[in-house]
Amino acid sequence: MNASRIALVTGANQGLGRALVEGLAARMSPDDLVLLTGRNHRRVTDAAHEVGRLPGTRARVEGRVLDVTDTDAVTRLAEDLHAGHGGVDVVISNAVARVGPEESQAERADEFIDVSNTATHAILRSFGPVLRPGGRLLVVASSLGTLGHLDPRLRHLFDGATLDQVEYAVESWRGAIHNRTAQEAGWPVWLNVPSKVAQVAAVRALAAERRARDLATGTLIASVCPGMVDTATSRPWFSDYSQAQSPAQAAAALLDLVLTEGADPTLYGELIRFGKPLDWHDGTPPVEQDGILTP
Ligand SMILES: NC(=O)c1ccc[n+]([C@@H]2O[C@H](COP(=O)([O-])OP(=O)(O)OC[C@H]3O[C@@H](n4cnc5c(N)ncnc54)[C@H](OP(=O)(O)O)[C@@H]3O)[C@@H](O)[C@H]2O)c1
Repeated sequence: MNASRIALVTGANQGLGRALVEGLAARMSPDDLVLLTGRNHRRVTDAAHEVGRLPGTRARVEGRVLDVTDTDAVTRLAEDLHAGHGGVDVVISNAVARVGPEESQAERADEFIDVSNTATHAILRSFGPVLRPGGRLLVVASSLGTLGHLDPRLRHLFDGATLDQVEYAVESWRGAIHNRTAQEAGWPVWLNVPSKVAQVAAVRALAAERRARDLATGTLIASVCPGMVDTATSRPWFSDYSQAQSPAQAAAALLDLVLTEGADPTLYGELIRFGKPLDWHDGTPPVEQDGILTP
């Protein structure tokens, strides 16, 4: 990687994103710059100041407002980093919209899809071209992102799809939710499953286009599963939290991927959990009764 590097994390004012920024700030060099981004100016500014004051912080940390649903802003930030710094070394697309168990998944679908999917497509399209050789472009997905979690009728939409085709599939899903035809078409009520499958498929699509070039320069594009993490988003969904990691624990394996030199070809383009690739075709559709997920 370059002597002076730039890293950027989305949705980083709390939760896993913030732990990723803290880890990058601790493990990168004083010449490096870590951009802590989020949608709210106050929360971003406060978080950046707090991380900057941590005893272990070595790199510079700056807060930047980036609402990932503003795809023009995503494009502008990528262009600015290219113009001002010649590109970016680490991009972690992490943001997620928080939906509680008591809320209607259908009513929150637009925001959820915008934050997780439309934004991911914009980040892949905008930051892919400005990623410096040896860089890392990671999308935080989930082990729910393997294709087998979808109803078999829907899998062809994402299997071997191009990024345009993934975008089309996501908009078809959104349209089916609006038209109330989603369930008869096989889409689960629980938004997180199609959303994560689509994120993993989008990464696979971009990776397929640039694999040879990236492997030659030690560049890694991948989706990642952090495992179960105790955060404000996940806590309301689980009664037993004994197995959950702290955000800092969950960030550790992701930071190893970011900061280890060279790219392992077996990980390139894959969904990675604790340093190992998950089989894209694994998984079974979750059981839902009356739209309620049965764990
Ligand atoms: N927690 C788990 O067990 C778990 C498991 C598997 C995968 N993951 C994945 O890990 C990632 C992080 O999740 P988390 O549990 O750390 O969630 P979290 O603590 O709720 O953090 C989500 C972050 O996303 C931000 N965000 C929401 N909407 C945004 C927008 N429009 N633009 C920019 N930022 C926005 C939030 O900002 P505000 O503070 O302003 O709301 C917050 O900083 C997600 O992709 C999630 O799906 C989590």
